[in-house]
Amino acid sequence: MAKRHPSFVCQECGAVYNRWKGKCEACGGWNTIAEETGSASRMAGPVSTRPSRAKGRIFPLEGLSGETKEAPRTPSGIAELDRVTGGGFVHGSIILLGGDPGIGKSTLLMQASAALANRGHRVAYISGEEAVAQVRLRAERLGLGQAPVELASETNVEDIIATLSQGRPPALAIIDSIQTMWTETVESAPGTVTQVRGSAQALIRFAKTTGTAVILVGHVTKDGQIAGPRVVEHMVDAVVSFEGDTGHHFRILRAVKNRFGPTDEIGVFEMSDQGLREVPNPSELFLAGRDMATPGTAVFAGMEGTRPLLVEIQALVAPSSLGTPRRAVVGWDQSRLSMVLAVLEAHGGLKLGMHDVYLNVAGGLRITEPAADLAAAAALVSSLSGNPLPPDTVYFGEMGLSGAIRPVAQEQARLKEAAKLGFSSAVAPAARVESKSSKAERLPLAASSIGHITDLVAGIAARRRKAS
Ligand code: TYD
Ligand code: MG
Repeated sequence: MAKRHPSFVCQECGAVYNRWKGKCEACGGWNTIAEETGSASRMAGPVSTRPSRAKGRIFPLEGLSGETKEAPRTPSGIAELDRVTGGGFVHGSIILLGGDPGIGKSTLLMQASAALANRGHRVAYISGEEAVAQVRLRAERLGLGQAPVELASETNVEDIIATLSQGRPPALAIIDSIQTMWTETVESAPGTVTQVRGSAQALIRFAKTTGTAVILVGHVTKDGQIAGPRVVEHMVDAVVSFEGDTGHHFRILRAVKNRFGPTDEIGVFEMSDQGLREVPNPSELFLAGRDMATPGTAVFAGMEGTRPLLVEIQALVAPSSLGTPRRAVVGWDQSRLSMVLAVLEAHGGLKLGMHDVYLNVAGGLRITEPAADLAAAAALVSSLSGNPLPPDTVYFGEMGLSGAIRPVAQEQARLKEAAKLGFSSAVAPAARVESKSSKAERLPLAASSIGHITDLVAGIAARRRKAS
């Protein structure tokens, strides 16, 4: 084996150095490098326990065509969770579940464990953070006290694997959390990247050899990175993040990486006093309590994976008392807002240089689609002009730097969802409505087409003339 010498490992990205540095050259983090004893460099690659041989073993090489089987899965029975994993936990796969502390990861996993155990599967829940009594108390509070989940409070990976290897291998094993685990093969303290990586490697090997689906819980730092566990992101089959605002009770489960399923699906939950409740129709939830008479709110007909999702976008444009006006955004991309504001100034004739601008996506949702440009622009123009938008209209469309409104994917699904929720018209890209004009009668609601941002500004200004 390699000679034991101290090495210096970045606790954010796992880069290894032979002397201490203030700044990690790999990820740019300051003060993230810590000394770790034990041969950390050995952990950088897969650990080989086989004796070295002079000659390699010959293995068969196969062609692309051949027999394939759909990966066998165990559905959790929680529809919103299965939607994100792609239909259930794939046997022998490893999922990393990340999220802020207190967001509800342990609650979700306890509910999934109980659902699976109640249907006769062997499920083990290993908590490294809470005592057995605490986990039991939570299960009782969730009304799951009778579920036959095997419970333990343990942090040593070798002991965990030895225990789980007894008898029939579990269908699902939960490790809550990976940051608390330690393995004897590594000498560093628990919580260091070397330990996290070593523990994850041992658990991955266990999953692959036994067919048990393993879920690793990972805590996230303030800036949204899965700290420490980031180094295992490339080793696991799926990375799922549990998001939400602790001030709101909505929780969004989102696949960031998935070797066995889609990465654009979301699952929506609501935190209640009896745990997480599934939200099968999130649009209703995100539009509840909408203030329709106030200027500055627009309903965006968005898509999350295959599911249409209607959400309210709120804007406030107010005269600024500051030399440099404020631009604040919650739930959307800051640079996307800057772009929309620049286009509104350059091509829409709006004067925003002396105004503070605030943009908020209602309900704590985070939108990543460029199709939200038009809805954001409509909310901004409405707030600046003081004209409320028609309450029965949805908006979607991507905005180019020239001010042109470009078509977006899946218009039919967006329009159908809007019609289902009682909206009677849509403001959408022109290219779409014209290209489908032959099928216009099949549109589920009246869509007015917009080709350029000036049409939007003129349309909203015209509402004032009509009203006055
Ligand atoms: P938890 O699952 O412990 O979060 P994590 O494992 O991600 O750190 O959830 C903790 C929060 O959830 C806590 O603030 C209380 C709240 N909660 C409820 O509102 N209802 C419930 O039924 C449960 C079990 C928790
Ligand atoms: Mg927890």
